[in-house]
Amino acid sequence: MSDKAWGGRFARDTDRGLAAFARSLPLDRRLWPYDLALSAAHVRMLAHRGILSQADADALLTGLVDLERAFAAGEVELPEEGEDIHLAIESLLFARIGEVAGRLHTGRSRNDQVATDLHLYLRDAAHRQSAALTDLLGALWERSRQALEQGVVVPGYTHTQRAQPVLLAHLWLAHFDALERDRGRLADLVRRANRSPLGAAALAGSPHPLDAVLTARLLGFDGPYDNSLDAVADRDFLVEYLSFAALCGVHLSRMADEAILWTTAEFGFAALEDDAAFGSSLMPQKKNPEAFEHVRARAGRLTGVLAGFLATLKGLPLAYNSDLQESHHALYTAADTLDGMLAAVRRLLEALVVQPERMAQAASDPLMLATDAADLLVRRGVPFRTAHRQVGELVAEAAARGVGLGELAADVVAAHAPALTPADLARLTAQGAVAARATHGGTAPARVAEALERARARLAPPPLPPPPPRAADVAHTPLPLEEVSR
Ligand code: ARG
Repeated sequence: MSDKAWGGRFARDTDRGLAAFARSLPLDRRLWPYDLALSAAHVRMLAHRGILSQADADALLTGLVDLERAFAAGEVELPEEGEDIHLAIESLLFARIGEVAGRLHTGRSRNDQVATDLHLYLRDAAHRQSAALTDLLGALWERSRQALEQGVVVPGYTHTQRAQPVLLAHLWLAHFDALERDRGRLADLVRRANRSPLGAAALAGSPHPLDAVLTARLLGFDGPYDNSLDAVADRDFLVEYLSFAALCGVHLSRMADEAILWTTAEFGFAALEDDAAFGSSLMPQKKNPEAFEHVRARAGRLTGVLAGFLATLKGLPLAYNSDLQESHHALYTAADTLDGMLAAVRRLLEALVVQPERMAQAASDPLMLATDAADLLVRRGVPFRTAHRQVGELVAEAAARGVGLGELAADVVAAHAPALTPADLARLTAQGAVAARATHGGTAPARVAEALERARARLAPPPLPPPPPRAADVAHTPLPLEEVSR
């Protein structure tokens, strides 16, 4: 007979190659803190409902809390051939407390167990990443404040072609807003996902009088899932997290791409401090923004994880299927990748030294004031489309002569735009163009100062459900819970 936990109906053990192929322990071993907390909550509930004797419950809780201590101290060796973290913990418990360990799995299944563990892991990751995003938002906000104080003007681009001058402070706040939406998405999805699958058992619920509300509350969930099939089959929470991670990654990648452009000799808008740059093994002069390139590249990895996991889910009937074991790969890859990107961008932002003179020089390109010339004509009664054409002709004249708009001769200006004089054109400046764009959300200093104030109010992170408890906390939470919980 097989000596597996589920080996009773098997005459022979699983083929070693297939067992290795199916094993999730190398991935899901990181779930130990959540699986122990979940197990402690389950034991408290079983005893509370009289399904377990208090003596057995105490023995199990002592074992679980001791195992938690041993894991944290790095003393635990997981069985090399273990199938997954759930069975591994059960066998470790047998080794510590003996046969009473066999009562732990009453009324639960690895199906509701793994789903609950993943929810708890996600909540932990959300706390960490919301804090990392908050830190990054604070840094972007401070950069914006400084740039506004210094009045730094930079060319704004469309199609990577110089378009109109903008305040550098405005640009930093644009990145701030995108990342702040990401942080909000993370909080939204975690709040929506804060339901406990525990109690669904394999798929149908349990004949034991379980209290799923109690286990949910012990673990900091808002309550249990309403449907046992959905509880074990649902991975929406994970898809939402992967979507958040992919989009946040895309935003970080766009920032990185901008920084890469800025550090080229062609732009020269920023320099990287030495300790944030990399060299070439062949070309002695090179100073490469490689960490920014890795940020850009890893957004591709995050996008791929999302697409891959959706593809895994699309063919699955209810309820649990082993395909769902891909959850581990998807979740940990996304969480680890995003952790690394957030930390790297935070560091890179510090190391990115902007060059305000180069920015100002580029922003003073007179061709970027063409829209302002057209708008001046509009204020003098010329229809915009006519004004656009007239100024376009002036731009062509200036380009042909290799001069700025303000340097065109009076007869040339009069021939194309009779309502304009060379003096009008010479008076246009980048600072003036910036100040003129005073509509809501525009780049005028007064508007950016207001936006900065509004952003200050959004620096603090949105509330999240509580971080997952430790098994030791769960073991000692006074019951009944109604009297102590919210
Ligand atoms: N290791 C599995 C997973 O990660 C746990 C659930 C397994 N259930 C089962 N009947 N094989 O999804």
